[in-house]
Amino acid sequence: MIRDSFHSRIGFVLAAAGSAIGLGNIWGFPTNAANNGGGAFLFVYLIVTFLLALPALYAEIYIGNQAQKNPVSALGEACTENLPRFGRAMGKAGLCGAIMMLSFYTIVAGWMLSHALSSLSALAGFSELSVWLATDNTTRNLVFTPIFIILGASIVHQGVHGGIEKWSSRLMPLLLLMLIGLIIYILQQDGAMEGLRTYLIPDFSQVTDPTLVISAMGQAFFSLSIGVGGMMVYGSYMAKDKDIGKLVLSIGALDTFIAFLAGLLIIPALFVAQYAGQQVFANEKLIGEGQLIFQILPTLFSSMGTIGLVVATGFFSLLSIAALTSTISSTEVPVSYLVEEKSMSRRKATWLISAIVFSASMTLIAFFDVLFGFVIRVLTTIVQPLSCLFYFIVVGWLWNRGNKLKDKARLDANKWLSLWGNYLGIACPILLTVVFVNVAF
Ligand code: PHE
Repeated sequence: MIRDSFHSRIGFVLAAAGSAIGLGNIWGFPTNAANNGGGAFLFVYLIVTFLLALPALYAEIYIGNQAQKNPVSALGEACTENLPRFGRAMGKAGLCGAIMMLSFYTIVAGWMLSHALSSLSALAGFSELSVWLATDNTTRNLVFTPIFIILGASIVHQGVHGGIEKWSSRLMPLLLLMLIGLIIYILQQDGAMEGLRTYLIPDFSQVTDPTLVISAMGQAFFSLSIGVGGMMVYGSYMAKDKDIGKLVLSIGALDTFIAFLAGLLIIPALFVAQYAGQQVFANEKLIGEGQLIFQILPTLFSSMGTIGLVVATGFFSLLSIAALTSTISSTEVPVSYLVEEKSMSRRKATWLISAIVFSASMTLIAFFDVLFGFVIRVLTTIVQPLSCLFYFIVVGWLWNRGNKLKDKARLDANKWLSLWGNYLGIACPILLTVVFVNVAF
């Protein structure tokens, strides 16, 4: 069977950027930054992205690209000589990570869809419906989460080129333009400057706080979609031996830029709302489990008058699309495994995984207060960093045959390559471990 693949390099970049850019940037990053001192968080986030997350992204794509196989087989193969079973087991842990990610991601994505429809129904004059759609409630979650899961599944089952590549290459420039326009608007409102200062001027006494560092690291890993196999599987759909370094830099730059812009919009918006009398923080933390942004943003849009409704519809629709391109990369991880290793048809695998995600997300909705934040924390601060630690060890130690970073002749001829190999195999695991140990003690 010939494996499906991306038909162009740009197809890969757009799909990978589509996976990276999502709710993590527009919702996760500003929420985390607001909860962790604003500027201090941004500062640590940038450092961690550069020192650890981008190298991890490199390692993940590299393993997938060399193996040209799904993450379970790819990791198993890379560890054949040393720990084949463990490699496969870690690949399977990645599948579980992908499903965990989908279990809460589809809920938040459902909020985006319902907000988009809320503004649309306000435009059409259905004001009661519009209010209901914009109010946080369980019934709304029960309706929109499944709708979103079905939307994602219907793209994934069309395959890599026809589905993923085609969808990922659309509409993202529009999101960028919209963010910039909204930033210009918000910065002219009363209270915005205080938000801007909080976001851009770090309080250096906070930057060594272990919880801040681990949150920043988790956020960076989540935002770049690493540690669950999504980037590995996309790397495997790209023709072998591409210059991964450049790809990683462009994906990282795009993703970080969008997160930075989202902070530039949301943090001042929170302060504008606070200035207008709304309660936003309690004990220096944002109120609620991250839904707050979606109460603040509609207030912001409505301050613009009727045009605000059009802007809101566009904004939330684009966010839903951004969430969709991230959802499909995560769904592709278990689907590729079932198709390649269990000889299941793509259609069947997609619907099976969607059914599992559906049950997981319904469980989260049923026990929202206990589970929602917990699952996010376990995924981003434990599962993803540990997987990344494993990728570093695979590239630096466990994988010998076929590993360009361990080919002696090549390394002797190219000092930079050997430096890079050592950075990935030695410095990164040490750095990551130091962060963990600091948090634990
Ligand atoms: N990076 C995506 C975002 O920022 C989320 C994601 C995580 C996607 C892990 C795939 C895998 O929204």
